[in-house]
Amino acid sequence: MGDGFLHKYFLNNAHKRLHKWVHYFDIYERHLERFRGKSPVMVEIGVFGGGSLAMWKEYFGPGSKIIGVDINPKCKAHEGDGIEVFIGSQDDPAIIENIFSKYPNVDIVLDDGSHMMNHMISTFELMYDRVDENGVYLVEDTHTCYWDDYDGGLGREGSFMEFVKTKLDEINAVHTEGALPVSDFTRSTDCIACYDSIVVFERKKQGRRQAPVTRPM
Ligand SMILES: C[S@@+](CC[C@H](N)C(=O)[O-])C[C@H]1O[C@@H](n2cnc3c(N)ncnc32)[C@H](O)[C@@H]1O
Repeated sequence: MGDGFLHKYFLNNAHKRLHKWVHYFDIYERHLERFRGKSPVMVEIGVFGGGSLAMWKEYFGPGSKIIGVDINPKCKAHEGDGIEVFIGSQDDPAIIENIFSKYPNVDIVLDDGSHMMNHMISTFELMYDRVDENGVYLVEDTHTCYWDDYDGGLGREGSFMEFVKTKLDEINAVHTEGALPVSDFTRSTDCIACYDSIVVFERKKQGRRQAPVTRPM
């Protein structure tokens, strides 16, 4: 676990506007601490006041590259040293292609954009397979998966949370006796962590599964 940097940064923030639920900070540190000081490339969908881009830059340190994506052209103003902002919709394949053309090695994606169901799923499908093989993909504010205004609803077809549930089976595809094909997702995903309002996908190549017995009979 981390040292509480992010929460302290948030509480002391007098710089740009930053909007986060407080319980997110522990989750971020649990999954992202290992990238600190390692010059990661991070993409955050949803820039708003630019405060989170600045926070990530401080957290990951020199050499890190923080890429923002926002539909609002005014967000371009939040570019800075090691921080670049792409303007466009998160579900636009051309925008995502521009990002990966310039930054082929993305370590972390955080989707904090529109929180609309179709956008969350499209962005995941456009980006997930292209994230580094040991990278992390986070989707936050997934409480909208239960809200009608965002095309969500408990158990509603097409909600991002229903999509996540299919991914839980997909991660176990090798055990389904052929019922579910082993996919790129199966082969490249180590774990899905579901928290209140955040889903985290940890990427890691699945090795050949073995279950040896080590104590002789
Ligand atoms: C919740 S705010 C982001 C907050 C910011 N990440 C933070 O932590 O302070 C959501 C942002 O998503 C942007 N947004 C809305 N729809 C979008 C879309 N289709 N594509 C990209 N960004 C979008 C909004 O303009 C807004 O700035």
